[in-house]
Amino acid sequence: MTGRISCDVDLAVSTLRHGGIVAIPTETVYGLAAVALDGSAVARVFSAKGRPRDHPLIVHLAPTADPTLWGVLDDNALALAAAFWPGPLTLLVPRTDLVPDWVTGGRSTVALRVPSHPTAVALLERLGDAVVAPSANTFGHVSPTTAHHVEADLDVAVDLILDGGPCDVGVESTIVECSAEGLQILRPGAVTLADVERVTGVEVGALTGGARAPGMLASHYAPRAAVEVVDDLSAARTRAAEIEASGGRVHLVSHDDPSAYARNLYAELRAADDDDATAVVAVDPGDDGLGPAVRDRLLRAATR
Ligand code: TXA
Ligand code: MG
Repeated sequence: MTGRISCDVDLAVSTLRHGGIVAIPTETVYGLAAVALDGSAVARVFSAKGRPRDHPLIVHLAPTADPTLWGVLDDNALALAAAFWPGPLTLLVPRTDLVPDWVTGGRSTVALRVPSHPTAVALLERLGDAVVAPSANTFGHVSPTTAHHVEADLDVAVDLILDGGPCDVGVESTIVECSAEGLQILRPGAVTLADVERVTGVEVGALTGGARAPGMLASHYAPRAAVEVVDDLSAARTRAAEIEASGGRVHLVSHDDPSAYARNLYAELRAADDDDATAVVAVDPGDDGLGPAVRDRLLRAATR
């Protein structure tokens, strides 16, 4: 079946109920949803993305759903859920017996998230069931932040693309591992390290980069163009001129506001590929707000 772009939430709900796979908008990026307890639908998600079966998936819940059916939330996890759900936060917690191995790749933990995008919330509430939803891109490619990005990557493989407009945050959710050893941020996002420390009162280990969660390969989020990160705009202009002098075609990416940087980043990386750019020269986003999350994605895109 060919993917169709639609705004019809009820159609998306019935497609999911009948074992279909549906691209859905979230406030971070578009996800490719299947009912979490439907093993054959989840298998179709892995094949559509070309994703290895042992890479675990995030379970997405409605704001009114009970997360303790799926995971064991300790005090830190409960505090973070109360502060940031619905929103761009994924909690990695011990799983319950309900969670199938096809969701976690056989791990003893499960990743849980309650998205805030109104279309995702409406879908989850009407469905009355949890969905898995990895980013709706082909494996290793840049995550989609519009319905058209999903169409460009996965059109023929999905039953429906639910259009909720461009994503507000633009990069994937923060993943916080909550274990007996304390808290660790496995993937930076809109909920920052300072946010997590403020809400829990617990000191969180600094990000060290590299592959932290299974499926979080050092090389990921990559366009075809080679990505370079430089310190400031004047360094970017110098570098762009050098590359152009040797016959390259450059896209320069720079935003003063880290939120605007995050919101636009993936569209700009895709645009560079659409223009057959050979290189993307990106200015470092700095340490405020979404800056560390943007830097993390840029450095992964720069790793070959
Ligand atoms: O913002 C987001 O989180 C988006 C939207 C669609 O919700 N979803 C998303 O899913 O980014 P995905 O599958 O592209 O990335 C999820 C990451 C992967 O790196 C995966 O390895 C990690 O979460 N993960 C999921 N479950 C895990 C588990 N049990 N243990 C360790 N890592 C896990
Ligand atoms: Mg992904």
